[in-house]
Amino acid sequence: MSKLFVLSEQASIAHHYLTDLRSVERQKDRRLFWDSMERLGFLLAYELSKQLNYEQATVKTPLGTKEHYRLPDAPVLGVILRAAIPLYEGFRRMFPEADTAFVGEYRKEGSEAGGAEGVEIEQFYTTTPALEGRTLILIDPMLASGKSIVTAYRALAAKGGEPQALHIVSVIAARQGIEYVQQQLPSARCWVADIDPALNQKAYIVPGLGDAGDLAFGEKL
Ligand code: URA
Repeated sequence: MSKLFVLSEQASIAHHYLTDLRSVERQKDRRLFWDSMERLGFLLAYELSKQLNYEQATVKTPLGTKEHYRLPDAPVLGVILRAAIPLYEGFRRMFPEADTAFVGEYRKEGSEAGGAEGVEIEQFYTTTPALEGRTLILIDPMLASGKSIVTAYRALAAKGGEPQALHIVSVIAARQGIEYVQQQLPSARCWVADIDPALNQKAYIVPGLGDAGDLAFGEKL
């Protein structure tokens, strides 16, 4: 089974949402930006749902019975503050019974000046339910160097234990970020809406979409 799923490999409505997210004109509409992130989250969550473990269930309808599958164990959704919140919303709508873990972290000021190699992550908050035996879906819209998602996973696993299955979700991923994640977390499956070729000097994804947190919440100081 492939360890990487890329939503944009097929022409679908996902491309329409990606153009809304990336367009320097359309992303001025914050509500559209949020909605597009959330819709891509919903689509990625549906694709990912095909890889979860189900149990058979017999449903009694008013007129008879029918066999279906039910998800016996809700996943844990891991959110990296703050940019992941709109994307998380799409996952939360798909998995309303999920638990949620949070990680607060940021790039150390100036550390990205040397590009991806220099990026250092500072963490300030981690809260999680127990993860052992569970499925963790770790959500971050922009997978650039990959360091923030790997750091977030390690913090969650240190506190909550090792999950049974790990899924990493991003909207736009740089190829080198995916390679870093695959090397550091070889058991993880990655789910991305699109892959971009490069990072710039400040370790931002090119062409990317800019700063996902600022676009969703306003420019930080
Ligand atoms: N975070 C963002 O918001 N954008 C990038 O391109 C990289 C990290």
